[in-house]
Amino acid sequence: MKAVVWHGVGDIRLDDVPDPRIEQPTDAIVRITSSAICGTDLHMVRGTMVGMQPGTILGHEGVGIVDEVGAEVRNFMPGDRVVIPATIACGYCSYCRAGYYSQCDNANPNGPDAGTCFFGGPELSGPVNGLQAEKARVPFAGVGLVKLPDQISDEQALLLSDIFPTGYMGAELAEIKPGNTVVVFGCGPVGQCAIASAKLMGAGRIFAVDSVASRLDMALEQGAEVVDFTREDPVAVIRQFTGGIGCDRAIDAVGVDAMAPHSGPGMQEFTLHQKEFQQELSQVAPKTNVKGENWQPGDAPSMTLVWAVQALAKAGTLSIIGVYPETVNLFPIGMAMNKNLTMKMGNCDHRRYIPRLMELVQNKAIDPAKILTQRAPFSNVIEAYQAFDLRKEGWLKVHLQMQGGR
Ligand SMILES: NC(=O)c1ccc[n+]([C@@H]2O[C@H](COP(=O)([O-])OP(=O)(O)OC[C@H]3O[C@@H](n4cnc5c(N)ncnc54)[C@H](O)[C@@H]3O)[C@@H](O)[C@H]2O)c1
Ligand SMILES: [Zn+2]
Ligand SMILES: [Zn+2]
Repeated sequence: MKAVVWHGVGDIRLDDVPDPRIEQPTDAIVRITSSAICGTDLHMVRGTMVGMQPGTILGHEGVGIVDEVGAEVRNFMPGDRVVIPATIACGYCSYCRAGYYSQCDNANPNGPDAGTCFFGGPELSGPVNGLQAEKARVPFAGVGLVKLPDQISDEQALLLSDIFPTGYMGAELAEIKPGNTVVVFGCGPVGQCAIASAKLMGAGRIFAVDSVASRLDMALEQGAEVVDFTREDPVAVIRQFTGGIGCDRAIDAVGVDAMAPHSGPGMQEFTLHQKEFQQELSQVAPKTNVKGENWQPGDAPSMTLVWAVQALAKAGTLSIIGVYPETVNLFPIGMAMNKNLTMKMGNCDHRRYIPRLMELVQNKAIDPAKILTQRAPFSNVIEAYQAFDLRKEGWLKVHLQMQGGR
C-alpha cells in the first residue's frame, strides 16, 4: 500500500509499504478513505519534535471503513464507517475512565510514563504507524474507533479526528465563561476551531493573533477581532482594546514553531531577545534540514507563551494546546506566578470529545468542514505538505482523498 513515511528531518516520501496486519485481538484494520496533515506533523518534519524513528508512517487524522477486526473487538464489523481518534487509549485504565485518554496507562508500548500514544508519532509515543496511508492498524479498536452516521460526510468527520476536539479542549481548558474576553494565538486549523469553540462557550469577545492574511480573514469571518503581529504589537493592542485590563483567557494554538515578528513594532523586542530565541531554537531543534523555503522551524519557540502571559488579565487562565515536545524547557514563570494565573494544558483527550462534537456537527451547530480549504488526491500528499508548511495564502487545511470516501 501507499503511505507517507518519515525518513529524516526534512525528508518524507510517499512509499510503497507492506499492508498492516492484526497483531493483537483488540486491533482492527481500517481502510482509510480520507486523511489530513496536522501542524504536529510539521513539527516532525521541521525537526522541532525530535525522536522520530525512520520508517514511521506519519499522520493521525483519518476516516475510513473497517476492513478486519480482532477477536476481542465486539462493537465493530467489517464495512462499518468510522472516524479514528488521533490518540490511542485502552478505555479501561483509571485515566481513560476519568476521560484523560491521552494519559492512558496501557496504550503506549513504552510504558505508562512514556507519554501520550498517538498515530505516527516519535519513538517515545510508540511509535504506532500513522493514518496517512491506505490502511492502518488501530490498537484498542473498541475504544479507538467511533462509528459515523450516514449523514456525516468524510469532510465533516475528518476534523473530528483531531482538530475540532483539540480546539474545543483548548477552549474548555481556558475556563471560558459567558462574557469573557479571550485571545487565541495562532489561526491555523486548531486556532480556528478554538475560536469556534470559544463562541459556543459564550465568549464575549475573541481576539485572534496571526500573521497570515487569509487565516486572519477566516478568524474575522468567525467574528473575531484580528491582530496581525507583523504590523502591531498584539499585547499592546489587546490591552488598549480591553481598557488596559488584558484578556480573561488566552489559548496558545501555535506551539513550538512560533515565529517572532520581523516587521512592525514587535520587531524591536525580537531584536533585543534574538540571542535568547536562538538559544531556545538550538535546544528545541538540534537538527534541521531546510530545503529551499520548506521545513524552516519557527524562530522564537517561546514567543506565544510570553505574549499570552503578558496579554492575560490578572487571575486569568492560560490554555496551551499548541504542542511543546518534552525537550522544551521554556516558560515565563515569574510573570505568570505574580499575576496569579491559572494554567491548563495538554494533549487532546480526543475520544472524550468526539461523540459530543459529532452531535454538534449533525445538528449543524458547527460546520468544521469549512476549515478544509484544499482537496488533493493522496498521490499529491508531499506537495500538500510543502504548501501547508509554507502557510500559503488561502491554504489552511487539506482533505487528502483516498479511494471510497464520501
Ligand atoms: N494538544 C493537542 O493534542 C494538539 C492536537 C493537534 C494539534 N496540536 C498543535 O496545535 C498547534 C497548531 O496546529 P495547526 O494544525 O493549527 O498548525 P499550523 O502550523 O497550521 O498553525 C500555527 C499557526 O500559528 C501561527 N503563528 C506562528 N507564530 C505565531 C505567533 N508568534 N503568534 C501567533 N500566531 C503565530 C502560524 O502563522 C500558523 O497560522 C501545533 O503546535 C500542533 O502541534 C496540538
Ligand atoms: Zn494533530
Ligand atoms: Zn487507558
